[in-house]
Amino acid sequence: MAVAVLAALTLAAPARAESDKVAADKAVSSQDGKFFDANGEPTYKIGPDGKVDWYTYSGFQRYSAECLRCHGPDGMGSSYAPALANSLKTLSYGDFLSTVANGRKNLEGGQEKVMPTLGLDKNVMCFIDDIYIYLKARSDDALGRGRPPGKEPKSKAWEEGVNACMGPPS
Ligand code: HEC
Repeated sequence: MAVAVLAALTLAAPARAESDKVAADKAVSSQDGKFFDANGEPTYKIGPDGKVDWYTYSGFQRYSAECLRCHGPDGMGSSYAPALANSLKTLSYGDFLSTVANGRKNLEGGQEKVMPTLGLDKNVMCFIDDIYIYLKARSDDALGRGRPPGKEPKSKAWEEGVNACMGPPS
């Protein structure tokens, strides 16, 4: 009898228990197509059909343009730089922002591994939430490898924010 009950409970549980982190990253509010978790930090929103919010999609594009050459495709890491899909399992939003803005040097073992200082690079900083949101989705396994299969349209607020951040073309 006990065994039968246990079996029924196991069947009723989701295939993979939702980790605390995945639960904490859950979108609870949104503004102009941008989603936020319970801490008010930016996060992703992915529909049952795999369609991602615009920020996640934009983050995929920007990550691929600005970070992939060192950190590998899809946040999977390389022999040179760590897998950010792993890093974001523990790295806080604040530490992420400051690492990207200030850079970091690792001289351990006679190697020189350098995370460049990107705080003045508009192609990075004007999209830093997008990149964070994308990597957050990857770190939660909410998004698979490669180009997201579908996306919500970009919002006017996103476009205006990017234009204001990038400034007039020089
Ligand atoms: C020129 C190569 C290079 C580029 C381009 C680069 N990084 Fe890095 N990054 C590194 C290296 C190397 C490290 C590891 C430094 C260390 O060991 O302290 C690193 C570390 C980091 C870390 C800390 C990870 C951890 O586990 O603590 C973050 C976050 C990060 N990079 C984000 C980014 C983002 C976002 C981009 C794109 C906007 C980017 N990086 C572009 C080389 C790069």
